[in-house]
Amino acid sequence: MRLFVTGAAGFIGSNYVRNRMAKHPGDHVVAFDLLTYAGNRPNLADIEDQITFVQGDIGDTDTVETLLREHRIDTVVNFAAESHNSLAVIDPARFFRTNVLGTQGLCEAARRAGVARFHHVSTCEVYGDLALDDPDAIFTEDSPYRPRTPYNASKAGGDHVVRCYHETWDLPITITNCANNFGPYQFPEKVLPLFTALAMDDQPLPVYESSDNRREWIHALDHADAIDLILDRGVVGETYHVGTGVELSVKQITALVLDELDKPASLIKIVADRPGHDRRYLLDWSKIRRELGWEPQIDPIAGIQETIRWYAQNRAWWEPLRERAPVVEGSGSWSSEAPRGPAPSGPTLVETGPDVRRGPAASQDSD
Ligand SMILES: NC(=O)c1ccc[n+]([C@@H]2O[C@H](COP(=O)([O-])OP(=O)(O)OC[C@H]3O[C@@H](n4cnc5c(N)ncnc54)[C@H](O)[C@@H]3O)[C@@H](O)[C@H]2O)c1
Repeated sequence: MRLFVTGAAGFIGSNYVRNRMAKHPGDHVVAFDLLTYAGNRPNLADIEDQITFVQGDIGDTDTVETLLREHRIDTVVNFAAESHNSLAVIDPARFFRTNVLGTQGLCEAARRAGVARFHHVSTCEVYGDLALDDPDAIFTEDSPYRPRTPYNASKAGGDHVVRCYHETWDLPITITNCANNFGPYQFPEKVLPLFTALAMDDQPLPVYESSDNRREWIHALDHADAIDLILDRGVVGETYHVGTGVELSVKQITALVLDELDKPASLIKIVADRPGHDRRYLLDWSKIRRELGWEPQIDPIAGIQETIRWYAQNRAWWEPLRERAPVVEGSGSWSSEAPRGPAPSGPTLVETGPDVRRGPAASQDSD
């Protein structure tokens, strides 16, 4: 295959490209990434000589179309997104710019270049949230979209864009909505690398008040294999859920980190919830199992423990990235107005670049 993988220098994108090159060494892969604060080219260091890296914006339709033609791309896999729920509360516009308009620009380039497949990577979060106390509640591929946060709404908008390019112009699309991912190379603003890094330095772990809120967890490599199976055998126009059925609360994730690093529970610091903090997501992924025979291969709890050890052993990877995180833990309000001026009290908001702002809290999510 000749692949154009967007967001390839991010967490899941880099795991995907590494997995793809290991299993399909004959592929031609263009790894495309804007290198926002979350994009990190060293994530691809060990496979740089097997791929072509291009820095650019998915919303730049003309440039992307030229690349698709020059590299005779047959398959686009779109991971590129603003992905941090907490940043979305502070600076929502950039989420709608990339996740909706950027996705449209990419679809347009793919339509013009006539690719054979456009795979779009989305999230369980587009459906809104589920009650904690309803054991039968689950999202199917037919559940209505009811996003509750700016990140989720921007991802939902992106999904609608992709689907409309299929319905209107026959762009040969597939979509995956996946559960919370864990694994190596995740930017240290997300709960698992963040809590591991803090605990290693005996710093407080900022746990939201609603620490019973829970997520379904999957290793990024299981997600990567599901996407490859869909590229091979998935039906054009279809959406597939990718999950494991294994749910863990914020409290349980925190305990796994503290146990693995042998650190005391006294490091836990309860902080105010993020506004719109979703309670629970759970995907019915029986369609991909039934129709394509996919099953996750990595036990989530053992995989999370192994991932904590990876971060513990790879301080040199995450330490320099912490400086780039636009959202830092602390106290204060969640106002999206906050970044425009000095905060009167509470959070310290620090400009770290032309389009990156620092805000008050830490994520309890994986995206
Ligand atoms: N992390 C999860 O648990 C999870 C779960 C389900 C779905 N997803 C989806 O998977 C995808 C990847 O998520 P992630 O966790 O790896 O995120 P990430 O933030 O680690 O990576 C996103 C990458 O996209 C790049 N990017 C951002 N804007 C861009 C633009 N305009 N043009 C080109 N590149 C751009 C960034 O530089 C970064 O490298 C996202 O679409 C996300 O919504 C994530």
